[in-house]
Amino acid sequence: MITSSLWWLLTILGSAVAYIEISEEYLTSIKQDAADDQAAGEYNYDEQGDDWQGTCQTGTAQSPIDLIFSDAKIVSIPRLRFNYYNQTLRTPLIITNNGHTANMVIPLTRDGTRPYINGGLLPGDFEVQSVHFHWGSRNTKGSEHAINYERYDVEMHIVHKNTKYATMGDATLNPDGLAVLGIMMRSVNRLSTRNYGLNKIFNQLPKIVEYNSNATITGTLNVGQLLGNIVTGEFYTYNGSLTTPDCAEAVTWNVFSDVLDFPHRQIAKLLNLQDSRKRPLINNYRSIQDTNDREIYYRALNL
Ligand SMILES: *[C@@H]1O[C@H](CO)[C@@H](O)[C@H](O)[C@H]1NC(C)=O
Ligand SMILES: *[C@@H]1O[C@H](CO)[C@@H](O)[C@H](O)[C@H]1NC(C)=O
Ligand SMILES: *[C@@H]1O[C@H](CO)[C@@H](O)[C@H](O)[C@H]1NC(C)=O
Ligand SMILES: [Zn+2]
Repeated sequence: MITSSLWWLLTILGSAVAYIEISEEYLTSIKQDAADDQAAGEYNYDEQGDDWQGTCQTGTAQSPIDLIFSDAKIVSIPRLRFNYYNQTLRTPLIITNNGHTANMVIPLTRDGTRPYINGGLLPGDFEVQSVHFHWGSRNTKGSEHAINYERYDVEMHIVHKNTKYATMGDATLNPDGLAVLGIMMRSVNRLSTRNYGLNKIFNQLPKIVEYNSNATITGTLNVGQLLGNIVTGEFYTYNGSLTTPDCAEAVTWNVFSDVLDFPHRQIAKLLNLQDSRKRPLINNYRSIQDTNDREIYYRALNL
C-alpha cells in the first residue's frame, strides 16, 4: 500500500534503530499544509489577530465568537456522524510545530479510507484533514470560542474538507468548503479516565519545541480517540471562518458544549513551544468576533 521512496531514520529509546516509511501522499499533504501556511503570510498573536488584514478585517462572518445558549436557536437536527473514526490510521503520524500551533496532518486509515463526518447542519460529507490546538499561558485561558462568556484552557480543532472539493485551497474559496469540530479542553490535576489518543500526541510535544520541528507519534491512533469520551450529541453550529489568516469564510463550525478534561502536566507542554521568532508560542487564540446577527444553532440531546 505504501509507495514511498523516502525512508525515515528513527532512534527508539536511544538504542534500537527502526526505519519507518512515509507514503508519498502523506508527505505531500504535510508539505501542502506548510505551503498553505506560508501562502497565508507570516502572522502572529501579538494583538490576538486584531492586526490581521484582508478578510480578517473586512469579513462579516468571522470566527471565533461567543456562543451564548440563551441567544441560540435550539433545533432538532440529526446528530453528527463520525464515519471510520474508529479505524486505525496509517503510521507514521507526524506532528509539526508550524510556528502557530502544534499540527498533525491526518493520514488515511490502514484500510485506505479517509474518515469523514456528516449530519448536523453540515452541507455534505467532510473528510478529516488535520488537528491542532489553541492555548493560553500560565495564567490565561486560550480557547478561541467562548461558551456563555467563558473561555476554556485549550481548544482543539479537527479540520475537515467537503468531499466535493479536490483540495483545501478550493474548499477555502467556498462557503460550504470546510467543517471544523471545536473541542473545549479543561486542565485538571487528576483524571478518572485517560485519553490515550491525545496523550500520544502530547507526549511528543517536548520534541517539537522549536519552530519547524516535527516528531513521530508512537503507537497507533484513530480519529475518534481525539474526542475521548465527550458527549457529541450537544453542540453549537454556525457559519463562520478560519481563525487564522486569510480568515476565509468557509467554515461550518461545530463546537461541543461538553468539555474534555485533560491533565495539567500535558497541557503545560504546549506552553513551552516556540514561534518562528524563538519567542514562547503562547496565547495563540484570536479575539472574539462580532456575530453580525448570524444565526447560532444549538442541538440538544433528547429533542
Ligand atoms: C467501527 O465501528 C463500526 C460501526 O460503527 C463497527 O462495525 C466496527 O466494528 C468498528 N471497528 C472497529 C475497529 O472498532
Ligand atoms: C521533519 O524535520 C526534519 C528535520 O528538521 C526534516 O528534515 C524533515 O523534512 C521534516 N519532515 C517533515 C515530514 O516535515
Ligand atoms: C450556512 O449558510 C447557508 C447559506 O446561507 C445556510 O443554508 C446554512 O443553513 C447555514 N448553516 C448554518 C449552520 O448556519
Ligand atoms: Zn484552529
